[in-house]
Amino acid sequence: ARLVVLVSGSGTNLQALIDACADPAYGARIAAVGADREDIEGLARAERAGIPTFVRQVSDFETREGWDSAVTTVVERFEPDIVVSAGFMKLLSQDFLDRFLTLNTHPALCPSFPGMHGPRDALEHGVKVTGATLFVVDAGVDTGPIVAQVPVAVEEDDDVASLHERIKTAERAMLVDAVGRIAREGVSVDGRKVRIGTSAG
Ligand code: GRF
Repeated sequence: ARLVVLVSGSGTNLQALIDACADPAYGARIAAVGADREDIEGLARAERAGIPTFVRQVSDFETREGWDSAVTTVVERFEPDIVVSAGFMKLLSQDFLDRFLTLNTHPALCPSFPGMHGPRDALEHGVKVTGATLFVVDAGVDTGPIVAQVPVAVEEDDDVASLHERIKTAERAMLVDAVGRIAREGVSVDGRKVRIGTSAG
């Protein structure tokens, strides 16, 4: 399966996928890495791995629609089977989502704590267990059909940074496992139900 991975930051999820794809048995390879900003570690990780990169910044376009269609056009060029939004901090257009099976990782157990501050919101709420979710992106914010989840315990002395780091360790393992299974076995999405291994792949 061909992947396009979208990033906005440090790209540790991307790195986990790069490392997994080094084994041909994993079943996926990264055709390109895209970002919505320059000079981020995620792009540097792709460059070090010899993966083509592209950047489309909203501020370079007169309208958000112009940016949306530029992102769609450049991603289309790489003919991905799956787009992985791994810490990509922009919402994608409906047209984009209609064209590409797009997965996103979120650092909370959806539908709890959607949005930009999953670890902080979990801590403030006082939950004892949070985690990470991989889901198929739909029109909402962190609302799409769930592909995989992993629980993570909240420790007494956690702050946002320590909790997010623990979540990210589990998140990376979940992402690599689920993307590999989808790449090898296919995926079907039936309304809110996602099944890995039931489509032709
Ligand atoms: C991940 O926890 C992701 O779910 C969240 O931001 C973090 C990105 O980390 N939205 P990285 O860029 O993959 O290191």
